[in-house]
Amino acid sequence: MKKIMKLFAVLILMLSFGFSANGAEKKEKLYVGTNAEFPPFEYLEGSEVVGFDIDFINAIAAEMGREVVVKDMSFDGLLPALQTNKVDVVIAGMTATEERKKAVNFSQPYYSANQVIILKEGDTKGIKDFADLKGKKVAVMLGFTGDVVVSEMPEVQVERFNAAYAGIMALQNGKVDAVVLDSETANNYVAKNSGLVLAEGKGEAEDYAIAVKKKDAELLKEINTAIDKIKADGTFGKLIEKHFN
Ligand code: ARG
Repeated sequence: MKKIMKLFAVLILMLSFGFSANGAEKKEKLYVGTNAEFPPFEYLEGSEVVGFDIDFINAIAAEMGREVVVKDMSFDGLLPALQTNKVDVVIAGMTATEERKKAVNFSQPYYSANQVIILKEGDTKGIKDFADLKGKKVAVMLGFTGDVVVSEMPEVQVERFNAAYAGIMALQNGKVDAVVLDSETANNYVAKNSGLVLAEGKGEAEDYAIAVKKKDAELLKEINTAIDKIKADGTFGKLIEKHFN
């Protein structure tokens, strides 16, 4: 009897040790920079950052055996934060532009979007396409690709805002004639607010990708491998369905 008790005790000890060893196993953290003002890619639900990009990077990190820590910051602060090692990666519906490629590396693209024009319903000022923005007051978000596109257009009065919703509010209040923003986020705002419409014209396609430091070649490879895996096993498709339908 004593023997059995002893055996039992040893077994429990082994089990609990096994569990605690498991629980204590610390996953290496993956610090992720984003700007949670870009639904449905990233936005706040209470104080929690949620959205497609967040689910996507969590799935990638799971493949890599790492644990995501999200850091929410201003969009124009993201690449500087990456460069100064405050974060390991940036995922923010960020377009992999040639200009940004000079400073950072990008993963394989995971989403394609384009710039669109949001107008006030019943007060579209005759704007149908980008050429019609000439002579108009146009809201863009600081540092977004839309900012670059509109700023290069002659004779457009550019009004820069820090967040998309602020530009939308300016449009609703008649302070600007149009807002230029990424298609998916624009769709999201138009669907959730009455009195907004999209112009027919669309800008060129842009690819969203995850940014990593130039020196992090190994991390970039791991991320790309994880994306391949997530795309092949159906996880990616499920996330698209969850966030875009
Ligand atoms: N795609 C645009 C860009 O790269 C806008 C991205 C904005 N993203 C955000 N999380 N605020 O400039």
